[in-house]
Amino acid sequence: METAANTQHTMKTTEELKQIVKDKYAEIALQDKDQNASSCCGATTSSNKVYNIMMDDYTNVDGYNDDADLGLGCGLPTAFANIKKGDTVIDLGSGAGNDCFVARHECGVEGKVIGIDFTPAMINKARENAEKLGLNNVEFRAGDIDDMPVADNTADVVVSNCVLNLVPNKEKVINEIYRVLKPGGHFSISDVVLVGELPEALRQDAEMYAGCVAGAIQKEAYLQHIADAGFESITVQKEKVISIPDDILTNYLDAEAMASFQNGETGIFSVTVFASKPGNTILKQKIRMADLSTADSGSCNPNSGCC
Ligand SMILES: C[S@@+](CC[C@H](N)C(=O)[O-])C[C@H]1O[C@@H](n2cnc3c(N)ncnc32)[C@H](O)[C@@H]1O
Repeated sequence: METAANTQHTMKTTEELKQIVKDKYAEIALQDKDQNASSCCGATTSSNKVYNIMMDDYTNVDGYNDDADLGLGCGLPTAFANIKKGDTVIDLGSGAGNDCFVARHECGVEGKVIGIDFTPAMINKARENAEKLGLNNVEFRAGDIDDMPVADNTADVVVSNCVLNLVPNKEKVINEIYRVLKPGGHFSISDVVLVGELPEALRQDAEMYAGCVAGAIQKEAYLQHIADAGFESITVQKEKVISIPDDILTNYLDAEAMASFQNGETGIFSVTVFASKPGNTILKQKIRMADLSTADSGSCNPNSGCC
């Protein structure tokens, strides 16, 4: 069936997909909050409703700031992140700063929060919000989370709310998270994942891509990428089904395809996933090197790291 949505059917490159996402979130950052009507993908489409369903209510969470809440999340990762006073926290795809300000409440004046986002209008909005709140230990950095502007072993905790689904190369981001976490650090990330295959028309649509649905991958693959990166204690902390209303589905599917989608095995879920980076990586490396030098020389030298 040919619909307005699936006439856009073309394979897009990574850079094209990123540009679609940037344009969409710049539009959202620049429009009135009321106009945005609490949606992940802005005022222009019926998919607003999808994200109203995705959202969790932040308003009673300590550190909540109304100006920073553009209604773009799909969970409460900071509530599950076990942030302690003095922690350094990184928020991936920080938007207007919603999770950063909640994280700042948890880590206190002695901690530090770094938000990263690649949409300049979002960074500006987040910086304005931090200034209004008078916070000098919350910093917003412009950058791509698949190549973070952050040194190795920086963070005690990484959080992210409804962002990895938007990134074409999820493995790259997960490897980056591993790199920037300190040994023993952990993450808590809310995201959209799938169980079963989405109908092709839905999957190929740019609007659904920017709106956190079409870029989502299988839950099993998502958890496997995390395991492959070397994380341990991988736990799904929360899981919630998201159902797309019929009036949205009709934009993409004919009656037959819709019936099959609704009766099928496909589910769209919002999940919050926790995992930790092994704590003694550096020590283990030292011991391995020491083992080698011991094997070579048959002795253990002072300051070699093995004694
Ligand atoms: C759905 S919004 C979520 C914003 C925020 N986490 C919240 O809950 O309010 C996604 C955000 O991620 C940003 N983003 C998407 N892909 C990104 C990437 N590859 N690198 C950095 N930021 C990205 C977008 O610019 C946007 O601000």
